Formats: sequence, C-alpha cells, structure tokens
Amino acid sequence: RNFLQILGRTTLITVVLAAGGFYYVTQKERHPGAQMPFDPEKKTIVVLGSGWGATSLLSTLDTADYNVVVISPKNFFLFTPLLPSVAVGTLNPRSIIQPTRYITRHKARQVSVIEAEATDVDPVNKTVTFIDNSDIKGAVSSTTISYDYLVYGVGAEVQTFNIPGVKEHACFMKELADAERMQREFMDCVETAAFPGQEAKEIDRLLHMVVVGGGPTGVELSGELHDFLEDDLKMWYPELAGKIRITLVEALPSVLPMFSTQLIKYTESTFKESKIDILTKTMVKAVKEKAVVLQMPDKSVVEVPCGMVIWAAGNKGRKITQDLMAKMPTVQTNRRGIEVDDFMCMKGAGGSIFAIGDCTATSYAPTAQVASQQGAYIARMLHQMAKRDALVEKVGKLERIGAALGTTAEATAEEKARINEETEEARRQLAKIKLRPFHYSHQGSLAYIGSDKAIADLPFMNGNFASGGVATYLFWRSAYLSTLFSLRNRTLVATDWVKVKLFGRDVSRE
Ligand code: FAD
Ligand code: NAI
Repeated sequence: RNFLQILGRTTLITVVLAAGGFYYVTQKERHPGAQMPFDPEKKTIVVLGSGWGATSLLSTLDTADYNVVVISPKNFFLFTPLLPSVAVGTLNPRSIIQPTRYITRHKARQVSVIEAEATDVDPVNKTVTFIDNSDIKGAVSSTTISYDYLVYGVGAEVQTFNIPGVKEHACFMKELADAERMQREFMDCVETAAFPGQEAKEIDRLLHMVVVGGGPTGVELSGELHDFLEDDLKMWYPELAGKIRITLVEALPSVLPMFSTQLIKYTESTFKESKIDILTKTMVKAVKEKAVVLQMPDKSVVEVPCGMVIWAAGNKGRKITQDLMAKMPTVQTNRRGIEVDDFMCMKGAGGSIFAIGDCTATSYAPTAQVASQQGAYIARMLHQMAKRDALVEKVGKLERIGAALGTTAEATAEEKARINEETEEARRQLAKIKLRPFHYSHQGSLAYIGSDKAIADLPFMNGNFASGGVATYLFWRSAYLSTLFSLRNRTLVATDWVKVKLFGRDVSRE
C-alpha cells in the first residue's frame, strides 16, 4: 500500500509540475515583454521573405544591434516538410504555420513586419520597393524604403519548363494554398466518381492520380496519398477505394537521386507493395484537363487519362531575383540563381546584400537545412559586424582624444597613458574579430515514403548510415517535431497525429 501511495503521489506531483511548466512556457510565448524602440542611430537591415532562411535569421539575430524590417507576402513561416501531410488531411493547415510576429515580438528591439511583395531591389541606391498585393488595399499600397544591409531570402517558385497545360491544370505542392487545393480536388475526384451512373471508364480516369517528379516532394506526396487510401478511403468508399491508382512519373532513371542506392531500392520495393506505379525515364510533355501526355522510355508518346496531376518537378528563380541579377550582368550569370561569395554576400552588390536559401546558386542542395543554417550564419555575422563597427568607432574616438591630449599642456602623463591603453585594448579586441566563411554541416536526409515507413541517409563517423523502415519513421516524426520552431506548433502537430490515429482523416470537402 505504501509503495502504491508513494507512486501515486510522485505521479501526481510530476503531472502537476509538467502541467505548470507547460502553462508557464505557453504564457511566456503568448505575453512577450516590452521592446526597445527603433533607433535612428543604428543601421537598418531589410529582410525579404519569411521562409526557412529568413525565419532562422530572425530567430538568431540580436536586434539590439540593428533596426530590422521584414517584408514578405505571407505574414507567416511555413514548415514545408510537413506540407504533403496537409494535402491529405493528416495535419491541419494551421498546425504547420507560425506567424512571423510570434518570433519578432520576442526580440530585444521592435521589428517591423510588413505583409507585402517586394517588386524591385535597387542595389546602387540601396532601396527596396514593395506593394500590397492582398485583396484589401488601403489608400497607400506601394512604397520604397532604404536599407544598409539587405538579407535576400525570397526562395524559388515552381519550375514548369513552360510545358503546356501545367499552370492551367496541374496542382503544385509549394505553398499552403497548394496543399489545401489538392485536398479539395482529390476529394472532388472521389465524390465525382461516386456520382450515380458514372461509367467504369470515367471512374478509372477520375481515380487515377498522377504525381510528376520523383524528387522527395513527389515521393512523400505519393506515400501520403497511399496512406489516406489505405487508412480511410477504404472504409468510407469501399466500392471505389480499390480503383484508386497512384502513378509517380520521373524523367531520370531513378527516383530520389540524392539518396543512396540501397534506399532508392527500398523505396521502389515499398511503392511496389503499396501498388504505387513508378514510371522512370518517362517525361511529362503536356498536361490536359483530363489527361497527361507522357513520353515513354522508348520515345513513344501516350496520353494517359487521369483525374488529377500533382506537379512536383523542382524549382526556378523568381522574377524579382532574375531582375536583380540582370542589374549585375557581368557577375550574375548563373541560371540557377544568385551567385554568392564564401560569406553569402551577393557578388557584385558591394557587400550590402546577403542572399540565402533557394534563391542562390551554390554547391548545396536547395533544402530547408541549408537555408536555415545560412540564415543563422548571417545573423551571427551581422552581430560580429555590429561589434566591429562599434570598435572601429571607439578606436577612432580614442585616437582623436589621444591626439587632442597630446597637444594639451595640462593633460597629465597618467591621463595620456590611460587613453593609450584604452586605445590599444580596443585595437586588440578589433583584431580578434574575424568574419568566418559559411560552413554547411549536413545533418542527413530524411523522407517519408508511406505505410509508416521513412528513409534516412545520416552522416556517421566520416561515412554514411542508411536506414529505412518503421523505426526510421518514428525518428522522422520526432526529428520534425523537434525542428518545428515553437512549442505551439509542436503541440498542434502532435495533437493532429493523435486525432488521426483515433478518428482517421476527414473526408469532407470544403
Ligand atoms: P522559402 O522557405 O520558400 O521562403 C521564401 C519566402 O519568401 C516566403 O516566405 C515567401 O512568401 C517570400 N517571398 C516570395 N516572394 C517574395 C517577394 N517578392 N518579396 C518578399 N518576400 C517574398 N527541405 C528539407 O531540407 N527537408 C525537407 O523535408 C523538405 N521538405 C519539403 C517539402 C516540400 C513540399 C517542399 C515544397 C520543400 C521541402 N523542402 C525540404 C525544401 C525547403 O522547403 C526549401 O529548401 C526552403 O523552403 C528554402 O528556404 P528559403 O528561405 O530559401 O525559401
Ligand atoms: P526536385 O528538383 O528534387 O525533383 C524534381 C524531379 O522532377 C526531378 O527528379 C526531375 O527529374 C523530375 N522532373 C522534372 N521535369 C519532369 C517532367 N517533365 N517529367 C517527369 N519528371 C520531371 O524537386 P522537389 O522534390 O520538389 O525538391 C526540391 C528541393 O527540396 C530538393 O532540394 C529536395 O532535396 C528538397 N526537399 C527535401 C525533402 C526531404 O529532405 N525530405 C522533401 C522535399 C523537398
């Protein structure tokens, strides 16, 4: 009895302490303290974007050093790795976004967050022009501001290769609205197939989902679609579920070229078991309203009827990026994006523009991991630069005082020695400030492939550790849960996972 009493009390105390701790942290997140106001004496950093690179920068940046302005058409950060889960209703769209103000309100100095789209960067006059492109506009909807430093993190847009019909008929998987649209259209295909009197041929077409692009986005999305089918649709649409087909089309000889051969084979065999067809060496040539045109490995061209095409065929630079690069035509010639030096400074911009993430052309893959490390690096470097600027100013001031004392007869030797010592100390501190080039530390690649399985290529003791399966899936979930930026998002995502385990995914169509 004693043991049970002790166990009961300990459990109760642990639960109360955990609940109290949780409440304390949430309230601290909800009620940030007062902030320092804008300081006209400080330099101004303008940040373009609120994605992986910009958000990581904002989280790390010491705003005591600068005035900061953030401009982005989205007033939130989107956790892209979990976007395919939103597309099939595993996660609620709001669970994977974080308002940018939730981050900036916790900074030491006020940060101005402006929901607007930057339309022009003038690297000579150091200005950015932006417009309010939302539905509701006020009397002023366009303006230009100046910057001392610009952190350029506008990401990339979907690459369509100008293939006919892609923009008109395919569904992308880049923004939150894309995932919501896909969920709606997918359920529309299913409900239309269930319409009384629908012919067998038409049902087959409506229930054929074609995913274009065998990169991680296409693979993860196919896996999520398969889960939706197995876990939920089979229950609610028993007469149709067996007719749903998923085809993954990839132009290259294999899917997931960035993963090790062993994991590519594992993915292919898992997809085979899941009845997801993979068509490699097959190129989409056109997308039509009710079909997709494929060029097969033998170069023959076939038109395959389908209900929906999901386009995950990679990225290309945004127009504003191309326009900015065109202003430095001799140095910015890389078609993949902005060329930067070892310090992430845009070549040809005179040291005032830092470019990070998917808008750059570097030796790194365009991933969240790279963008967030670059953002944090720029924040640390800007802090070093602020320290350096302050010391340069201090040395200058002390040198001026020293020179003045030298010509003043009344100045004592003690006074002169003290100023000399202070000047030397400031110079020593200045010499210690070394700006180090960006170094990327690869934490490994992870991807979900459906059926509660994930694959992981992890760096291990100068080599590589490849793993796939259910344990890797649990690792995938915990890795992404811990990577989410806030306790709020972690709680929302974890709750969604529990809800789906208990009640399944919602099949209603908004
Ligand atoms: P983004 O995160 O795309 O942010 C760009 C920001 O700029 C956005 O806030 C946008 O609104 C804003 N913007 C756009 N135009 C303008 C403008 N004119 N003016 C001002 N702001 C503008 N990577 C991984 O490492 N692991 C993963 O598991 C992973 N999963 C992914 C899943 C999906 C479905 C997708 C699409 C991508 C995934 N990625 C993953 C890749 C990762 O999302 C990108 O590499 C990352 O988002 C790049 O960060 P970024 O800051 O450069 O751009
Ligand atoms: P991607 O560029 O990696 O893959 C696109 C694929 O589409 C390519 O393999 C390409 O050959 C194929 N393709 C292009 N045009 C085609 C056509 N007409 N017909 C058939 N196939 C065609 O793009 P993705 O998957 O969107 O990834 C973008 C970036 O985001 C990558 O760097 C990726 O590593 C990263 N990412 C990482 C994830 C992870 O680590 N889990 C998840 C999603 C994205």
